[in-house]
Amino acid sequence: MDTKKLAERLAEAGQSHILQFWDQLSPEEQAEMRLVVENMDFIEVNNFFQNAMKTSGQISQEKVDNRMEPVPREVLGSVTRDHECLKEWEREGLRCISENKVAVLLLAGGQGTRLGVQYPKGMYDVSLPSRKTLFQIQAERIRRLEQLAEKQHSRKCCIPWYIMTSGRTMNMTKDFFSRNKNFGLKEENVIFFQQGMLPAMDFNGKIILEGKGKLAMAPDGNGGLYRALGTQKIVEDMEKRGISYIHVYCVDNILVKVADPAFIGFCSLKGADCGAKVVEKTNPTEAVGVVSKVDGRYQVVEYSEITLPTAEKRSPDGRLMFNTANIANHFFTLPFLQEIMRTHEPQLQHHVAQKKIPYVNPQGQLIKPDKPNGIKMEKFVFDIFQFAKTFVVYEVLREDEFSPLKNADSQDGKDNPTTARHTLMSLHHRWILNAGGHFVDENGTRIPAIPSLKDGTDLPIKCEISPLVSYGGEGLEHLVNGRAFQPTLTIDENGVHERVKNGL
Ligand code: UTP
Repeated sequence: MDTKKLAERLAEAGQSHILQFWDQLSPEEQAEMRLVVENMDFIEVNNFFQNAMKTSGQISQEKVDNRMEPVPREVLGSVTRDHECLKEWEREGLRCISENKVAVLLLAGGQGTRLGVQYPKGMYDVSLPSRKTLFQIQAERIRRLEQLAEKQHSRKCCIPWYIMTSGRTMNMTKDFFSRNKNFGLKEENVIFFQQGMLPAMDFNGKIILEGKGKLAMAPDGNGGLYRALGTQKIVEDMEKRGISYIHVYCVDNILVKVADPAFIGFCSLKGADCGAKVVEKTNPTEAVGVVSKVDGRYQVVEYSEITLPTAEKRSPDGRLMFNTANIANHFFTLPFLQEIMRTHEPQLQHHVAQKKIPYVNPQGQLIKPDKPNGIKMEKFVFDIFQFAKTFVVYEVLREDEFSPLKNADSQDGKDNPTTARHTLMSLHHRWILNAGGHFVDENGTRIPAIPSLKDGTDLPIKCEISPLVSYGGEGLEHLVNGRAFQPTLTIDENGVHERVKNGL
Protein backbone atom coordinates (compact mmCIF):
# COMPACT_ATOMS: atom_id res chain seq x y z
CA MET A 1 0.00 0.00 0.00
CA ASP A 2 1.55 3.37 -0.98
CA THR A 3 1.80 6.19 1.50
CA LYS A 4 -1.09 8.14 -0.03
CA LYS A 5 -3.44 5.17 0.37
CA LEU A 6 -2.20 4.64 3.90
CA ALA A 7 -2.95 8.28 4.73
CA GLU A 8 -6.43 7.98 3.20
CA ARG A 9 -7.23 4.90 5.27
CA LEU A 10 -6.14 6.64 8.44
CA ALA A 11 -8.07 9.80 7.57
CA GLU A 12 -11.23 7.73 7.08
CA ALA A 13 -10.76 6.30 10.56
CA GLY A 14 -9.92 9.68 12.16
CA GLN A 15 -6.40 8.47 13.00
CA SER A 16 -4.29 10.64 10.66
CA HIS A 17 -2.09 11.86 13.52
CA ILE A 18 -0.35 8.50 13.45
CA LEU A 19 1.65 9.68 10.45
CA GLN A 20 2.59 13.09 11.85
CA PHE A 21 6.30 12.19 12.07
CA TRP A 22 6.38 10.13 8.85
CA ASP A 23 8.93 12.35 7.10
CA GLN A 24 11.31 12.11 10.03
CA LEU A 25 11.36 8.29 10.02
CA SER A 26 14.15 6.24 8.47
CA PRO A 27 13.17 3.93 5.58
CA GLU A 28 13.32 0.95 7.99
CA GLU A 29 11.08 2.70 10.51
CA GLN A 30 8.67 3.63 7.73
CA ALA A 31 8.57 0.02 6.55
CA GLU A 32 7.86 -1.19 10.08
CA MET A 33 5.11 1.38 10.59
CA ARG A 34 3.60 0.60 7.20
CA LEU A 35 3.35 -3.06 8.11
CA VAL A 36 1.62 -2.33 11.41
CA VAL A 37 -0.83 0.10 9.83
CA GLU A 38 -1.62 -2.17 6.89
CA ASN A 39 -2.45 -5.03 9.22
CA MET A 40 -4.68 -3.09 11.57
CA ASP A 41 -8.43 -2.83 11.10
CA PHE A 42 -8.94 0.74 12.29
CA ILE A 43 -12.70 0.70 11.91
CA GLU A 44 -12.85 -2.34 14.16
CA VAL A 45 -10.50 -0.70 16.68
CA ASN A 46 -12.65 2.46 16.72
CA ASN A 47 -15.75 0.36 17.32
CA PHE A 48 -14.04 -1.50 20.16
CA PHE A 49 -13.22 1.87 21.71
CA GLN A 50 -16.73 3.24 21.43
CA ASN A 51 -18.38 0.12 22.80
CA ALA A 52 -15.86 -0.30 25.59
CA MET A 53 -16.28 3.31 26.73
CA LYS A 54 -20.05 2.99 26.61
CA THR A 55 -20.13 -0.21 28.67
CA SER A 56 -17.54 0.96 31.17
CA GLY A 57 -19.52 4.17 31.75
CA GLN A 58 -22.61 2.11 32.50
CA ILE A 59 -20.78 -0.34 34.76
CA SER A 60 -19.02 2.30 36.84
CA GLN A 61 -22.34 3.86 37.82
CA GLU A 62 -24.37 0.74 38.29
CA LYS A 63 -24.30 -1.40 41.40
CA VAL A 64 -25.59 -4.93 41.04
CA ASP A 65 -26.45 -5.59 44.69
CA ASN A 66 -30.15 -6.06 44.15
CA ARG A 67 -29.75 -8.45 41.25
CA MET A 68 -27.11 -10.61 42.86
CA GLU A 69 -27.41 -14.05 44.48
CA PRO A 70 -24.72 -16.17 46.13
CA VAL A 71 -23.60 -19.44 44.55
CA PRO A 72 -26.15 -22.13 45.57
CA ARG A 73 -24.76 -25.02 47.59
CA GLU A 74 -25.75 -27.60 44.97
CA VAL A 75 -23.31 -26.22 42.39
CA LEU A 76 -20.53 -25.79 44.93
CA GLY A 77 -17.83 -28.37 45.62
CA SER A 78 -15.51 -27.66 48.50
CA VAL A 79 -12.29 -29.35 49.58
CA THR A 80 -13.21 -28.73 53.20
CA ARG A 81 -16.99 -29.10 53.26
CA ASP A 82 -17.04 -32.10 50.91
CA HIS A 83 -13.87 -33.70 52.14
CA GLU A 84 -15.35 -37.20 51.87
CA CYS A 85 -15.80 -36.80 48.09
CA LEU A 86 -12.25 -35.70 47.32
CA LYS A 87 -10.84 -39.16 46.63
CA GLU A 88 -13.64 -39.98 44.20
CA TRP A 89 -13.21 -36.68 42.33
CA GLU A 90 -9.48 -37.19 42.15
CA ARG A 91 -9.86 -40.74 40.84
CA GLU A 92 -12.22 -39.49 38.14
CA GLY A 93 -9.83 -36.69 37.16
CA LEU A 94 -6.90 -39.09 36.94
CA ARG A 95 -9.01 -41.40 34.78
CA CYS A 96 -9.72 -38.52 32.37
CA ILE A 97 -6.03 -37.64 32.30
CA SER A 98 -5.04 -41.27 31.69
CA GLU A 99 -7.35 -41.29 28.66
CA ASN A 100 -5.55 -38.24 27.20
CA LYS A 101 -8.70 -36.16 27.55
CA VAL A 102 -7.25 -33.32 29.60
CA ALA A 103 -5.20 -30.32 28.41
CA VAL A 104 -3.87 -27.37 30.33
CA LEU A 105 -3.84 -23.86 29.02
CA LEU A 106 -1.58 -21.26 30.52
CA LEU A 107 -2.37 -17.56 30.29
CA ALA A 108 1.06 -15.99 29.97
CA GLY A 109 0.48 -13.03 27.69
CA GLY A 110 0.44 -10.36 30.40
CA GLN A 111 3.03 -7.63 30.62
CA GLY A 112 3.76 -8.03 34.33
CA THR A 113 4.01 -4.27 34.73
CA ARG A 114 3.68 -4.31 38.49
CA LEU A 115 6.44 -6.90 38.93
CA GLY A 116 8.55 -4.70 36.72
CA VAL A 117 10.86 -7.17 35.01
CA GLN A 118 11.74 -7.02 31.33
CA TYR A 119 11.08 -10.69 30.69
CA PRO A 120 7.98 -12.94 30.90
CA LYS A 121 6.73 -13.54 34.44
CA GLY A 122 6.96 -17.32 34.07
CA MET A 123 10.74 -16.95 33.87
CA TYR A 124 10.81 -15.40 37.33
CA ASP A 125 12.68 -17.24 40.06
CA VAL A 126 11.43 -16.33 43.55
CA SER A 127 14.66 -17.58 45.19
CA LEU A 128 13.53 -20.99 46.30
CA PRO A 129 16.37 -23.28 47.39
CA SER A 130 16.20 -24.95 43.95
CA ARG A 131 16.05 -21.59 42.12
CA LYS A 132 13.30 -23.03 39.92
CA THR A 133 11.25 -20.61 37.85
CA LEU A 134 7.44 -20.54 37.73
CA PHE A 135 7.53 -22.23 34.31
CA GLN A 136 9.71 -25.06 35.60
CA ILE A 137 7.52 -25.67 38.66
CA GLN A 138 4.42 -25.90 36.43
CA ALA A 139 6.13 -28.17 33.89
CA GLU A 140 7.23 -30.55 36.64
CA ARG A 141 3.74 -30.67 38.13
CA ILE A 142 2.46 -31.74 34.71
CA ARG A 143 5.09 -34.47 34.48
CA ARG A 144 4.30 -35.80 37.93
CA LEU A 145 0.58 -35.81 37.26
CA GLU A 146 1.09 -37.80 34.06
CA GLN A 147 3.01 -40.36 36.11
CA LEU A 148 0.27 -40.55 38.75
CA ALA A 149 -2.40 -41.10 36.08
CA GLU A 150 -0.23 -43.68 34.32
CA LYS A 151 0.34 -45.53 37.58
CA GLN A 152 -3.34 -45.58 38.48
CA HIS A 153 -4.47 -46.83 35.06
CA SER A 154 -1.41 -48.64 33.73
CA ARG A 155 -1.36 -46.77 30.44
CA LYS A 156 0.88 -44.08 28.98
CA CYS A 157 -0.69 -40.66 28.75
CA CYS A 158 0.14 -37.05 28.20
CA ILE A 159 -1.28 -33.67 29.19
CA PRO A 160 -0.71 -31.19 26.34
CA TRP A 161 0.31 -27.77 27.57
CA TYR A 162 -0.97 -24.80 25.56
CA ILE A 163 0.88 -21.61 26.39
CA MET A 164 -0.68 -18.30 25.39
CA THR A 165 1.87 -15.53 24.97
CA SER A 166 1.61 -12.10 23.42
CA GLY A 167 3.64 -10.13 20.89
CA ARG A 168 5.67 -8.93 23.85
CA THR A 169 6.40 -12.30 25.48
CA MET A 170 6.40 -14.89 22.65
CA ASN A 171 10.04 -14.99 21.59
CA MET A 172 11.54 -14.87 25.05
CA THR A 173 9.14 -17.56 26.29
CA LYS A 174 9.90 -19.91 23.41
CA ASP A 175 13.66 -19.39 23.74
CA PHE A 176 13.48 -20.07 27.45
CA PHE A 177 11.65 -23.36 26.95
CA SER A 178 13.99 -24.37 24.18
CA ARG A 179 17.11 -23.61 26.25
CA ASN A 180 15.65 -25.71 29.06
CA LYS A 181 14.60 -28.60 26.81
CA ASN A 182 10.96 -27.99 27.70
CA PHE A 183 11.74 -29.00 31.27
CA GLY A 184 11.54 -32.64 30.31
CA LEU A 185 8.22 -32.46 28.47
CA LYS A 186 7.98 -33.64 24.88
CA GLU A 187 8.31 -30.76 22.44
CA GLU A 188 5.16 -31.73 20.53
CA ASN A 189 3.13 -31.47 23.74
CA VAL A 190 4.12 -27.88 24.53
CA ILE A 191 2.20 -25.64 22.15
CA PHE A 192 2.83 -21.90 22.07
CA PHE A 193 0.37 -19.48 20.58
CA GLN A 194 -0.05 -15.76 20.50
CA GLN A 195 -2.97 -13.62 21.63
CA GLY A 196 -3.92 -10.40 19.85
CA MET A 197 -2.67 -6.91 20.55
CA LEU A 198 -4.63 -3.66 20.51
CA PRO A 199 -3.48 -0.06 20.44
CA ALA A 200 -3.79 2.08 23.55
CA MET A 201 -6.05 5.10 22.92
CA ASP A 202 -6.44 8.48 24.54
CA PHE A 203 -9.81 9.40 26.06
CA ASN A 204 -10.96 10.75 22.69
CA GLY A 205 -10.28 7.52 20.86
CA LYS A 206 -7.02 8.60 19.23
CA ILE A 207 -4.35 5.92 19.07
CA ILE A 208 -1.35 6.81 21.24
CA LEU A 209 2.13 6.91 19.71
CA GLU A 210 4.87 5.64 22.03
CA GLY A 211 7.55 6.62 19.51
CA LYS A 212 7.55 8.72 16.37
CA GLY A 213 7.09 5.58 14.31
CA LYS A 214 5.54 3.31 16.94
CA LEU A 215 2.00 2.76 18.14
CA ALA A 216 1.51 2.00 21.85
CA MET A 217 0.34 -1.61 21.63
CA ALA A 218 -0.81 -3.87 24.47
CA PRO A 219 -2.16 -7.43 24.65
CA ASP A 220 -5.96 -7.59 24.44
CA GLY A 221 -6.44 -9.06 27.94
CA ASN A 222 -6.50 -12.67 29.09
CA GLY A 223 -9.94 -12.98 27.46
CA GLY A 224 -8.07 -12.43 24.19
CA LEU A 225 -7.76 -16.19 24.59
CA TYR A 226 -11.10 -16.84 22.91
CA ARG A 227 -10.24 -15.06 19.70
CA ALA A 228 -6.76 -16.58 19.63
CA LEU A 229 -8.20 -20.10 20.09
CA GLY A 230 -9.70 -19.70 16.64
CA THR A 231 -7.16 -17.56 14.79
CA GLN A 232 -4.25 -19.69 16.04
CA LYS A 233 -6.08 -22.95 15.37
CA ILE A 234 -5.73 -24.12 18.95
CA VAL A 235 -9.20 -25.59 19.25
CA GLU A 236 -8.52 -27.47 16.04
CA ASP A 237 -5.39 -28.93 17.59
CA MET A 238 -7.37 -29.93 20.69
CA GLU A 239 -9.96 -31.66 18.51
CA LYS A 240 -7.26 -33.64 16.71
CA ARG A 241 -5.82 -34.80 20.01
CA GLY A 242 -9.24 -35.86 21.35
CA ILE A 243 -9.21 -33.41 24.26
CA SER A 244 -12.46 -33.08 26.23
CA TYR A 245 -11.51 -30.93 29.22
CA ILE A 246 -9.31 -27.87 29.50
CA HIS A 247 -7.86 -26.39 32.65
CA VAL A 248 -7.05 -22.69 32.18
CA TYR A 249 -4.86 -20.88 34.70
CA CYS A 250 -2.58 -17.86 35.26
CA VAL A 251 1.18 -17.96 35.10
CA ASP A 252 1.74 -16.09 38.33
CA ASN A 253 0.19 -18.40 40.94
CA ILE A 254 3.11 -20.30 42.40
CA LEU A 255 0.78 -22.79 44.14
CA VAL A 256 -1.32 -23.60 41.08
CA LYS A 257 -2.40 -27.23 40.85
CA VAL A 258 -2.02 -27.58 37.13
CA ALA A 259 -4.74 -29.89 35.74
CA ASP A 260 -5.89 -30.53 39.32
CA PRO A 261 -7.48 -33.98 39.04
CA ALA A 262 -9.95 -33.36 41.88
CA PHE A 263 -11.20 -30.15 40.23
CA ILE A 264 -11.46 -31.83 36.84
CA GLY A 265 -13.14 -34.89 38.33
CA PHE A 266 -15.64 -32.75 40.25
CA CYS A 267 -16.55 -30.72 37.14
CA SER A 268 -16.79 -33.80 34.96
CA LEU A 269 -18.97 -35.75 37.43
CA LYS A 270 -21.26 -32.73 37.75
CA GLY A 271 -21.61 -32.64 33.96
CA ALA A 272 -20.39 -29.05 33.93
CA ASP A 273 -19.36 -27.21 30.78
CA CYS A 274 -17.68 -24.44 32.75
CA GLY A 275 -16.24 -24.28 36.24
CA ALA A 276 -14.41 -21.78 38.39
CA LYS A 277 -12.02 -22.54 41.18
CA VAL A 278 -12.39 -20.03 44.02
CA VAL A 279 -10.96 -19.30 47.46
CA GLU A 280 -12.94 -17.97 50.37
CA LYS A 281 -13.12 -14.19 50.65
CA THR A 282 -13.00 -13.49 54.37
CA ASN A 283 -12.56 -9.74 54.48
CA PRO A 284 -15.46 -7.65 53.09
CA THR A 285 -13.11 -4.96 51.78
CA GLU A 286 -10.68 -7.28 50.00
CA ALA A 287 -10.34 -6.00 46.43
CA VAL A 288 -11.29 -9.19 44.70
CA GLY A 289 -14.03 -10.21 42.26
CA VAL A 290 -16.58 -12.76 43.47
CA VAL A 291 -18.31 -15.41 41.41
CA SER A 292 -22.06 -15.01 41.77
CA LYS A 293 -25.36 -15.17 39.98
CA VAL A 294 -26.69 -11.93 38.52
CA ASP A 295 -30.13 -12.06 36.91
CA GLY A 296 -29.85 -15.84 36.96
CA ARG A 297 -26.52 -16.04 35.10
CA TYR A 298 -23.06 -16.55 36.51
CA GLN A 299 -20.44 -13.86 36.36
CA VAL A 300 -17.58 -12.34 38.32
CA VAL A 301 -18.79 -9.27 40.19
CA GLU A 302 -15.95 -6.87 40.82
CA TYR A 303 -15.60 -5.35 44.28
CA SER A 304 -16.35 -1.93 42.81
CA GLU A 305 -19.72 -3.15 41.54
CA ILE A 306 -21.21 -3.79 44.97
CA THR A 307 -21.83 -1.58 47.97
CA LEU A 308 -20.11 -2.16 51.30
CA PRO A 309 -23.31 -3.34 53.09
CA THR A 310 -23.67 -6.10 50.49
CA ALA A 311 -19.98 -7.01 50.72
CA GLU A 312 -20.43 -7.26 54.50
CA LYS A 313 -23.54 -9.47 54.43
CA ARG A 314 -23.10 -12.80 56.18
CA SER A 315 -24.76 -16.21 55.82
CA PRO A 316 -26.16 -18.02 58.86
CA ASP A 317 -22.87 -19.95 59.16
CA GLY A 318 -21.02 -16.66 59.74
CA ARG A 319 -19.17 -16.63 56.43
CA LEU A 320 -19.49 -13.72 54.03
CA MET A 321 -22.52 -14.29 51.83
CA PHE A 322 -20.55 -13.35 48.70
CA ASN A 323 -17.34 -15.16 49.51
CA THR A 324 -16.41 -17.06 46.35
CA ALA A 325 -13.30 -15.12 45.32
CA ASN A 326 -12.28 -15.59 41.72
CA ILE A 327 -8.66 -16.69 41.18
CA ALA A 328 -8.75 -17.01 37.36
CA ASN A 329 -8.49 -20.78 37.45
CA HIS A 330 -11.10 -22.43 35.23
CA PHE A 331 -12.44 -25.62 33.75
CA PHE A 332 -14.00 -25.73 30.29
CA THR A 333 -15.21 -28.53 28.09
CA LEU A 334 -14.08 -28.44 24.49
CA PRO A 335 -17.66 -28.16 23.11
CA PHE A 336 -18.17 -25.12 25.35
CA LEU A 337 -15.05 -23.43 23.96
CA GLN A 338 -16.14 -24.31 20.41
CA GLU A 339 -19.50 -22.68 21.03
CA ILE A 340 -17.83 -19.58 22.51
CA MET A 341 -15.57 -19.23 19.49
CA ARG A 342 -18.35 -19.76 16.98
CA THR A 343 -21.10 -17.73 18.58
CA HIS A 344 -20.22 -15.52 21.49
CA GLU A 345 -16.66 -14.25 21.18
CA PRO A 346 -17.40 -11.37 18.81
CA GLN A 347 -20.11 -10.04 21.15
CA LEU A 348 -17.84 -9.89 24.20
CA GLN A 349 -17.12 -6.27 25.06
CA HIS A 350 -13.69 -5.00 25.99
CA HIS A 351 -13.20 -3.62 29.48
CA VAL A 352 -11.49 -0.30 29.91
CA ALA A 353 -8.37 0.07 32.02
CA GLN A 354 -7.24 3.66 32.53
CA LYS A 355 -3.45 3.78 32.44
CA LYS A 356 -0.49 6.13 32.39
CA ILE A 357 0.75 5.56 28.88
CA PRO A 358 4.06 7.10 27.76
CA TYR A 359 3.52 9.10 24.57
CA VAL A 360 5.33 11.40 22.16
CA ASN A 361 4.04 14.97 22.12
CA PRO A 362 3.67 16.98 18.88
CA GLN A 363 7.29 18.13 19.34
CA GLY A 364 8.37 14.49 19.23
CA GLN A 365 9.43 14.33 22.88
CA LEU A 366 8.64 11.23 24.95
CA ILE A 367 6.44 12.14 27.91
CA LYS A 368 5.82 9.86 30.89
CA PRO A 369 2.50 11.07 32.33
CA ASP A 370 1.94 11.09 36.08
CA LYS A 371 -1.79 10.49 35.82
CA PRO A 372 -3.85 8.29 33.48
CA ASN A 373 -3.92 9.73 29.98
CA GLY A 374 -5.56 6.93 28.09
CA ILE A 375 -7.00 3.45 28.10
CA LYS A 376 -6.06 -0.10 27.29
CA MET A 377 -8.84 -2.39 26.13
CA GLU A 378 -9.03 -5.88 27.52
CA LYS A 379 -11.35 -8.86 27.51
CA PHE A 380 -11.35 -11.07 30.59
CA VAL A 381 -11.12 -14.83 30.68
CA PHE A 382 -14.21 -15.06 32.90
CA ASP A 383 -16.42 -13.01 30.55
CA ILE A 384 -17.84 -16.24 29.18
CA PHE A 385 -19.33 -17.67 32.38
CA GLN A 386 -22.69 -16.17 31.38
CA PHE A 387 -22.92 -18.63 28.47
CA ALA A 388 -22.49 -21.78 30.56
CA LYS A 389 -25.38 -24.23 30.64
CA THR A 390 -24.06 -26.07 33.67
CA PHE A 391 -21.79 -23.92 35.76
CA VAL A 392 -20.03 -25.15 38.90
CA VAL A 393 -17.81 -23.62 41.52
CA TYR A 394 -15.01 -25.41 43.33
CA GLU A 395 -13.72 -23.94 46.57
CA VAL A 396 -10.16 -24.60 47.72
CA LEU A 397 -7.97 -23.37 50.55
CA ARG A 398 -6.10 -20.19 49.77
CA GLU A 399 -3.00 -21.27 51.71
CA ASP A 400 -2.80 -24.49 49.69
CA GLU A 401 -3.56 -23.21 46.22
CA PHE A 402 -3.35 -19.48 45.68
CA SER A 403 -0.40 -17.16 46.01
CA PRO A 404 -0.02 -14.90 42.99
CA LEU A 405 3.15 -13.05 42.06
CA LYS A 406 2.00 -9.57 41.12
CA ASN A 407 4.33 -7.02 42.71
CA ALA A 408 8.02 -6.43 43.26
CA ASP A 409 9.33 -6.98 46.78
CA SER A 410 8.71 -4.20 49.26
CA GLN A 411 8.37 -4.09 53.01
CA ASP A 412 5.00 -5.38 54.21
CA GLY A 413 4.16 -5.99 50.58
CA LYS A 414 1.54 -8.35 49.20
CA ASP A 415 1.67 -10.90 46.40
CA ASN A 416 5.38 -10.51 45.79
CA PRO A 417 8.40 -12.83 45.39
CA THR A 418 8.83 -13.15 49.16
CA THR A 419 5.19 -14.04 49.84
CA ALA A 420 5.24 -16.51 46.92
CA ARG A 421 8.38 -18.22 48.23
CA HIS A 422 7.06 -18.32 51.79
CA THR A 423 3.67 -19.76 50.89
CA LEU A 424 5.26 -22.52 48.83
CA MET A 425 7.72 -23.42 51.57
CA SER A 426 5.08 -23.41 54.28
CA LEU A 427 2.86 -25.66 52.14
CA HIS A 428 5.76 -28.07 51.76
CA HIS A 429 6.44 -27.86 55.50
CA ARG A 430 2.84 -28.97 56.10
CA TRP A 431 3.30 -31.85 53.67
CA ILE A 432 6.31 -33.03 55.68
CA LEU A 433 4.35 -32.85 58.93
CA ASN A 434 1.39 -34.69 57.40
CA ALA A 435 3.72 -37.42 56.17
CA GLY A 436 5.08 -37.94 59.70
CA GLY A 437 8.30 -35.93 59.55
CA HIS A 438 9.28 -32.95 61.66
CA PHE A 439 11.93 -30.27 61.96
CA VAL A 440 14.57 -29.58 64.60
CA ASP A 441 16.87 -26.61 65.14
CA GLU A 442 20.67 -26.77 65.22
CA ASN A 443 20.52 -28.01 68.86
CA GLY A 444 18.20 -30.84 67.94
CA THR A 445 15.18 -29.16 69.63
CA ARG A 446 11.91 -29.75 67.88
CA ILE A 447 10.68 -26.69 66.01
CA PRO A 448 6.99 -26.08 66.77
CA ALA A 449 4.68 -26.91 63.89
CA ILE A 450 3.02 -23.51 64.13
CA PRO A 451 5.66 -20.79 64.08
CA SER A 452 5.24 -18.15 66.75
CA LEU A 453 4.77 -14.56 65.76
CA LYS A 454 5.93 -13.34 69.18
CA ASP A 455 9.53 -14.46 69.01
CA GLY A 456 9.97 -13.39 65.41
CA THR A 457 10.16 -16.95 64.12
CA ASP A 458 7.18 -16.51 61.84
CA LEU A 459 9.39 -17.04 58.82
CA PRO A 460 8.62 -20.36 57.17
CA ILE A 461 10.96 -23.25 57.59
CA LYS A 462 13.15 -23.56 54.55
CA CYS A 463 11.85 -26.62 52.87
CA GLU A 464 11.14 -27.43 49.24
CA ILE A 465 9.81 -30.57 47.63
CA SER A 466 10.25 -31.06 43.91
CA PRO A 467 6.99 -31.46 42.00
CA LEU A 468 8.67 -34.45 40.37
CA VAL A 469 8.48 -36.17 43.77
CA SER A 470 5.07 -34.98 44.95
CA TYR A 471 2.22 -33.19 43.16
CA GLY A 472 -0.01 -32.50 46.14
CA GLY A 473 1.69 -33.94 49.21
CA GLU A 474 1.39 -37.62 48.19
CA GLY A 475 4.16 -40.18 48.24
CA LEU A 476 6.29 -38.66 50.98
CA GLU A 477 5.76 -41.07 53.91
CA HIS A 478 8.52 -43.48 52.94
CA LEU A 479 10.94 -40.57 52.73
CA VAL A 480 10.09 -38.63 55.88
CA ASN A 481 7.95 -40.61 58.31
CA GLY A 482 9.46 -40.60 61.80
CA ARG A 483 12.45 -38.53 60.70
CA ALA A 484 13.72 -35.19 62.03
CA PHE A 485 15.21 -32.67 59.64
CA GLN A 486 17.22 -29.54 59.97
CA PRO A 487 16.36 -26.83 57.49
CA THR A 488 17.14 -26.25 54.71
CA LEU A 489 15.45 -29.45 53.55
CA THR A 490 15.02 -30.23 49.88
CA ILE A 491 13.53 -33.37 48.41
CA ASP A 492 14.00 -34.10 44.74
CA GLU A 493 14.34 -37.06 42.32
CA ASN A 494 17.79 -37.73 43.78
CA GLY A 495 16.59 -38.04 47.35
CA VAL A 496 16.38 -36.10 50.59
CA HIS A 497 18.95 -33.38 51.23
CA GLU A 498 19.59 -31.37 54.36
CA ARG A 499 21.73 -28.31 54.01
CA VAL A 500 22.44 -27.10 57.53
CA LYS A 501 23.97 -23.69 58.23
CA ASN A 502 27.62 -23.37 57.26
CA GLY A 503 27.78 -26.73 55.72
CA LEU A 504 26.90 -29.37 53.17
P1 UTP B 1 -2.78 -9.66 35.34
O1 UTP B 1 -4.06 -8.99 35.08
O2 UTP B 1 -2.36 -9.81 36.74
O3 UTP B 1 -1.67 -8.90 34.50
O4 UTP B 1 -2.81 -11.04 34.61
P2 UTP B 1 -0.12 -9.09 34.43
O5 UTP B 1 0.29 -8.81 33.05
O6 UTP B 1 0.35 -10.42 34.95
O7 UTP B 1 0.45 -7.98 35.39
P3 UTP B 1 0.29 -6.38 35.37
O8 UTP B 1 -1.17 -6.09 35.59
O9 UTP B 1 0.81 -5.87 34.06
O10 UTP B 1 1.14 -5.96 36.53
C1 UTP B 1 -3.40 -12.21 35.13
C2 UTP B 1 -3.01 -13.35 34.20
O11 UTP B 1 -3.51 -13.12 32.89
C3 UTP B 1 -2.46 -13.17 31.95
C4 UTP B 1 -1.19 -12.87 32.73
O12 UTP B 1 -0.06 -13.38 32.06
C5 UTP B 1 -1.49 -13.55 34.05
O13 UTP B 1 -1.27 -14.93 33.95
N1 UTP B 1 -2.72 -12.19 30.88
C6 UTP B 1 -3.01 -10.90 31.19
C7 UTP B 1 -2.67 -12.61 29.58
O14 UTP B 1 -2.40 -13.79 29.29
N2 UTP B 1 -2.93 -11.70 28.61
C8 UTP B 1 -3.21 -10.41 28.86
O15 UTP B 1 -3.44 -9.63 27.92
C9 UTP B 1 -3.27 -9.99 30.19
